[in-house]
Amino acid sequence: MTSPVLVTGGTGRLGRAVVARLVDADCDVRVLARHERATLPPVMFFTGDLRRGEGIDAAVRGVGTIIHCATSTKGDADAIRNLVMAAARAGSPHLVHPSIVGIDRIASWGYTKAKLEAERIVEASGLPWTILRVTQFYDYCFENSQKLAKFPVVSPVPAGFRVQPIDPGEVAARLVEFALGAPAGRAPDMAGPEVSSWVGLFRSYLTATHRRRWVVPIRIPGSRAVRGGALLPLPPHTVGTKTWDQFLTARLQEHRSDQDHAARVNGG
Ligand SMILES: NC(=O)c1ccc[n+]([C@@H]2O[C@H](COP(=O)([O-])OP(=O)(O)OC[C@H]3O[C@@H](n4cnc5c(N)ncnc54)[C@H](OP(=O)(O)O)[C@@H]3O)[C@@H](O)[C@H]2O)c1
Repeated sequence: MTSPVLVTGGTGRLGRAVVARLVDADCDVRVLARHERATLPPVMFFTGDLRRGEGIDAAVRGVGTIIHCATSTKGDADAIRNLVMAAARAGSPHLVHPSIVGIDRIASWGYTKAKLEAERIVEASGLPWTILRVTQFYDYCFENSQKLAKFPVVSPVPAGFRVQPIDPGEVAARLVEFALGAPAGRAPDMAGPEVSSWVGLFRSYLTATHRRRWVVPIRIPGSRAVRGGALLPLPPHTVGTKTWDQFLTARLQEHRSDQDHAARVNGG
């Protein structure tokens, strides 16, 4: 019998996809997060707070691998520091750590500064480790597009942001490959198949959702590096296959199915 795999943040965008793939691979899966959610497959759930250092020892006890998908706008460095210390006490499992492409080129931003520090903590942890830097997830771009579309008539969109977003399912599959293999150290960056811009992604979203908005590109102060391609992967890198348009088609189809189901349940 193999040791359990712990997915921190297993209820988030990436974590849910990782958990699903581990379950498909017949792994014994644990999840650590602050709030239990009903949508999980049958995995063992541990309530805890990485940033506060609560509930971690119980979750890491006996695990062979940790895939660290938990994140928050604040405190990611403290969170991983607590996780690494608990993991060292629990026999030093393999720590698989997703990070973000280009964070060393935009390290003055608060969140990316903490993510960069988190990488350093993993590298110095004494645990066997794998770090995979990936680009922005389609889910994240979709959620942002929904917010931008809430503006009536005119939608202000960051100008010149060059991005190469990816399907989180493909990231999850790669993380699980690493988790089931030997520690790889710093892996090649991973990105989606197409280089685009925020404006381009948002226009595709508007087309796919049959909305009309006047798209106004806004120059964001301090974004010169991102406009220069800081968020794009450096070669050699791994490329996913699912495109933004394919993601949109699938997501909107799911949305329509959910609406049809709700209408049937409500007798519509
Ligand atoms: N989103 C992107 O576009 C993107 C791009 C590149 C890389 N990444 C990286 O991928 C990883 C996952 O990102 P995501 O977008 O999937 O995150 P997410 O959807 O925001 O999910 C975050 C998860 O972390 C848990 N969490 C937050 N604070 C916690 C704490 N103090 N203790 C325990 N659990 C905590 C949350 O559950 P509770 O709230 O219940 O605790 C949730 O399950 C992160 O390392 C992120 O930097 C994300």
